[in-house]
Amino acid sequence: MTFDVTVSGTDITFPCESDETVLDAAERAGYSIPYSCRKGVCSTCEGGLAAGELQVRGQGLARGPATGVLLCQARPCTSVEITPKRIVQRAAPVRKVITTKVHRITRPNADVVVLHLRFPSGVRAKFQAGQYLKVLMEDGDSRNYSMANPPHESDGVQLHIRHVPGGRFSEGVLAGLEKGHALTVELPYGEFSLDEEVDHPVILLGTGTGMAPLKSIIEDQIKRGGSRPMHLYWGARNSQDLYLADLPAQWAKRLPAFIFTPVLSEPEPGWSGRTGWVHRTVLEDYPDLSAHQVYACGNPIMTTAALNDLTAEGQLSPDAFYCDAFVPSGEIQPKI
Ligand SMILES: Cc1cc2nc3c(=O)[nH]c(=O)nc-3n(C[C@H](O)[C@H](O)[C@H](O)COP(=O)(O)OP(=O)(O)OC[C@H]3O[C@@H](n4cnc5c(N)ncnc54)[C@H](O)[C@@H]3O)c2cc1C
Ligand code: FES
Repeated sequence: MTFDVTVSGTDITFPCESDETVLDAAERAGYSIPYSCRKGVCSTCEGGLAAGELQVRGQGLARGPATGVLLCQARPCTSVEITPKRIVQRAAPVRKVITTKVHRITRPNADVVVLHLRFPSGVRAKFQAGQYLKVLMEDGDSRNYSMANPPHESDGVQLHIRHVPGGRFSEGVLAGLEKGHALTVELPYGEFSLDEEVDHPVILLGTGTGMAPLKSIIEDQIKRGGSRPMHLYWGARNSQDLYLADLPAQWAKRLPAFIFTPVLSEPEPGWSGRTGWVHRTVLEDYPDLSAHQVYACGNPIMTTAALNDLTAEGQLSPDAFYCDAFVPSGEIQPKI
């Protein structure tokens, strides 16, 4: 059965099947609503329901008026009127499922694996710097990982995978992978890409493997001759966790206004750099962020604290905060 979804305060209406999520239907109709995990975990897609009824996986039945509805998990029971945080017109993404081959596996430290996957000869996949892919498992489950390579390196993907203790993919599957093994991926997903509508200075803020999409964004800017000021903050516990510490110096030679600040929360003796919480270091350096954009990626505790503190204390506009929280991305939510 098909219902209408209308967006309050606009002339936007699109059809949504009863077994389709509002987010999927919006995409299919050429509209983009903010999202990140698409699994009901990160809350990026949260919006309001002005009228009508939605069945929301993990939240139950929502009857309008209601707030805090996860639009990535919401399926219509009636025609509905919604109030998403933002909705923009954008061509529906063309996603590809590709059976890749493992090309190289490196372990820059005890917690991180850098996995290079090659596409079959002649196959290319378009994506925007900062986006992610889904690794598809045989039973239909999947895991999200951000592309660390820039889009012009389009014959494969580089993934930075943090070891999650007991993790089905990062511990189980990864341990058995060798050069030549097949891995099926679907891409691209995500909205964590540089907003080119404005040319405000950019703060890139990452913890751990949150470096992956930031690396893609920076290397894409280098390729395209970008000149926007960019300040990269990389937070980690100790210097071992800064698994690509040599790269930023190379970027600084090729990007005119690029600064790199590593920040350690548990520094070893002898560390002379910045210490503490990475997002607080940003505030120390930039007490007024009203003319900046911030792109934060990695640990969800950091991304939430960064949104709260940078907007409350640093005058950052919430609209200028872009984020991919690296929340669990397996099928962990109960189905209803
Ligand atoms: C948009 C997006 C992009 C992502 N990109 C990356 C990336 O580039 N690199 C990367 O390393 N990770 C990334 N992640 C996180 C990654 O998808 C998850 O950590 C993934 O679930 C790990 O899979 P697994 O099979 O190893 O562990 P699972 O089997 O999924 O989980 C095992 C246990 O660990 C918990 N768990 C899983 N992940 C996390 C986590 N991140 N934090 C705390 N507890 C967790 C689970 O709840 C479960 O209890 C991304 C997540 C999202 C939403
Ligand atoms: S995108 Fe809906 S909860 Fe993450």
